[in-house]
Amino acid sequence: AQEPVRVLVTGAAGQIGYALVPMIARGVLLGPNQPVILHMLDIPPAAESLNGVKMELVDAAFPLLKGVVATTDVVEACTGVNIAIMVGGFPRKEGMERKDVMSKNVSIYKAQASALEKHAAANCKVLVVANPANTNALILKEFAPSIPEKNISCLTRLDHNRALGQISERLNVQVSDVKNVIIWGNHSSTQYPDVNHATVKLPSGEEKSVRELVADDAWLNGEFISTVQQRGAAIIKARKLSSALSAASAACDHIRDWVLGTPEGTWVSMGVYSDGSYNVPAGLIYSFPVTCRDGEWSIVQGLSIDEFSRKKLDLTAEELTEEKALAYSCLS
Ligand code: NAI
Repeated sequence: AQEPVRVLVTGAAGQIGYALVPMIARGVLLGPNQPVILHMLDIPPAAESLNGVKMELVDAAFPLLKGVVATTDVVEACTGVNIAIMVGGFPRKEGMERKDVMSKNVSIYKAQASALEKHAAANCKVLVVANPANTNALILKEFAPSIPEKNISCLTRLDHNRALGQISERLNVQVSDVKNVIIWGNHSSTQYPDVNHATVKLPSGEEKSVRELVADDAWLNGEFISTVQQRGAAIIKARKLSSALSAASAACDHIRDWVLGTPEGTWVSMGVYSDGSYNVPAGLIYSFPVTCRDGEWSIVQGLSIDEFSRKKLDLTAEELTEEKALAYSCLS
C-alpha cells in the first residue's frame, strides 16, 4: 500500500476549507489510490467549529483518509506535511484600510513561513489561496528561505477555470474541449485573462483558435475580460458569500496538475516566482502559463505578446510591485 501523504489546510474551519477537505479525503487532490492524512489548522475562536469539521470527516468514513489532525497550534499543523494549502488569512472588513489588511496578513504569513520551513517535510509544496494571494505567497517565500522558490505558488487556477467556463458558454462547447487560456499577473481585478493562444477541440477532432471561433474581438477584448476579472464580486453579490466550491475545486486542480503533470499540449495558470520571463519583473509572484512534469512547473516560453496584451501584463505587474512595497512597509 502507498504511504499516506500529509496535506495541510489552514483556515480549515472556513468556507473554502469546508468544501476542500472532503475533496481531498475523496482523492480529488492526488488520485483515487493515494491515501492522505489531513492536517487542519485554524485560530482559537474557530477551534470548536474546526472540531465539528473533524467529526464530520470521521462520520463520512472516507476510505482514503488515514488520519486527521485538527489543531490551533501552527507547529503541530505543519509537522511533516508534504503539501500545504494556505487558505487561512485575515479578511478585509468594512472600513478597513488596505494597509491594515496587508499588515495582518504579512504577520500571519511570516509566522507560518517559519513553521513550514522548520517542520514541514523536505520538498513540501505550498499553495497560497488566501488574499492577497500573490503577495502572501511572496512573504511566505521570503521568510522560508530554505524552501526552494519552485515549491511556493499561489492560486490563479480559479480565474483560469472561470475563463474556460466563459468561452465554453459562449461557444456552446464542452469546457473540457477548451484549453490554453492564460491568466497573467495578480489574482485581483487587474489580472489579464488572455485567449490569444486558446483553442477548442471540435467534434471532428480538429483544433481551432478561440479568436477565430468567437469571431468577436470586441467581446473578447472587453466583456470577456471584465467578466472574468469581476467574477468573484458577482458570486459575492449572488451568494452573499465569496466563491468556495469553485475555489476548493481549483485548488485541487492546481495541486493535482503540479504533482501528477499537465496533459501533453496543455498548459495551466499558476502564480509562481517570476524569473523575468515575458519581461515581468523578477522577484514577484506572478501568474504565468505553466506546464508541469515530474512534480515541477516550468513557464511556457516563446508565446507572442501583442501590444494590447503587453499593456495588460505590465499593468498587473505594476500593481504587484506596489503590493510588494506595501507588504515590506508593514514589516518595518
Ligand atoms: P473564511 O473567512 O470563511 O475562512 C477563513 C478561515 O481562516 C477562518 O476559519 C479563519 O478563522 C481562518 N484563519 C484566520 N486567520 C488564521 C490564521 N492565522 N491561521 C489559520 N487560520 C486562520 O474565508 P474563505 O471564504 O474560506 O476564504 C479564505 C481566503 O481565500 C480568503 O482570503 C479569500 O479572499 C481567499 N480566496 C481566494 C481565492 C483565489 O482564487 N485565490 C478564491 C476565493 C477566496
